[in-house]
Amino acid sequence: MSQMPGQAMWKMLSSGVCTSTVQLPGKVAVVTGANTGIGKETAKELAQRGARVYIACRDVQKGELVAREIQTMTGNQQVLVRKLDLADTKSIRAFAEGFLAEEKHLHILINNAGVMMCPYSKTADGFEMHIGVNHLGHFLLTHLLLEKLKESAPSRVVNVSSLAHHLGRIHFHNLQGEKFYSAGLAYCHSKLANILFTQELARRLKGSGVSAYSVHPGTVNSELVRHSSFMKWMWWLFSFFIKTPQQGAQTSLYCALTEGLEILSGNHFSDCHVAWVSAQARNETVARRLWDVSCDLLGIPMD
Ligand SMILES: NC(=O)c1ccc[n+]([C@@H]2O[C@H](COP(=O)([O-])OP(=O)(O)OC[C@H]3O[C@@H](n4cnc5c(N)ncnc54)[C@H](OP(=O)(O)O)[C@@H]3O)[C@@H](O)[C@H]2O)c1
Repeated sequence: MSQMPGQAMWKMLSSGVCTSTVQLPGKVAVVTGANTGIGKETAKELAQRGARVYIACRDVQKGELVAREIQTMTGNQQVLVRKLDLADTKSIRAFAEGFLAEEKHLHILINNAGVMMCPYSKTADGFEMHIGVNHLGHFLLTHLLLEKLKESAPSRVVNVSSLAHHLGRIHFHNLQGEKFYSAGLAYCHSKLANILFTQELARRLKGSGVSAYSVHPGTVNSELVRHSSFMKWMWWLFSFFIKTPQQGAQTSLYCALTEGLEILSGNHFSDCHVAWVSAQARNETVARRLWDVSCDLLGIPMD
């Protein structure tokens, strides 16, 4: 979708811009789902600032094309592509194993990849697709990379959630959508899980030098609506108000880069500001229980 310069400027000014001038030579970043959309723009900006950036994506060919594009645009050759399918815990473990073997550090982990409004389907491990990819996949990935993040402190985890979490509920008796399933709500539930995960992670990481943030990127023109003709139509109808992926990347970048943000670890951000979250998203008991249930489902020892 092309935009008039004035329109793009208006949206940029009214929707939060990461103004940090932090440069990232010697820093290492992983961005999931960075072969397109918000993730691609996030990876591009991190590369522009000199980081070694891992594009972690399920389609390596698409990833390689994007890596070459970013290398050409930024002059940074340290843009690497590695296979990561968040719908398969074997792939997540293989990615983490490879990454840990080849990298000494991890300073920025951006859990960005996501699916929205898929017809009912399951991951390789039998999890409902939204909760499986958006929450459990990133939960496992973060768990596997956590020691590296701690060793590399100060380091940060950014979980890309959504305003849609306000419509979400964690129904522990129906986490896999087997009793009742709505594609739209399944997305909202998984985005609520992203926020609960962030808060519990931040609580557990207090004093470790690793901080965690969740973000709402805004309503962004991307491939996210691919499963819903209605959403595609809505995006087209309201296209004037929809951000470009570059604008959508601003809050992730703000949380990854802004100096002194550590005291706000665990918070949710939108338009580069702390944002209000739903009542359930603030419920520590639900967050702790979701953590334990996620560990149980993924075979991670509980502490
Ligand atoms: N766009 C919005 O308005 C909006 C609003 C609120 C929140 N968000 C959040 O922003 C994040 C980025 O979304 P986007 O708008 O940039 O959407 P997008 O253009 O559809 O990008 C999503 C990315 O996730 C990847 N992905 C999907 N399933 C995966 C899997 N099983 N394993 C690994 N990667 C997988 C996709 O890979 P493929 O290209 O291979 O499919 C793609 O790279 C998501 O978490 C989304 O929930 C977006």
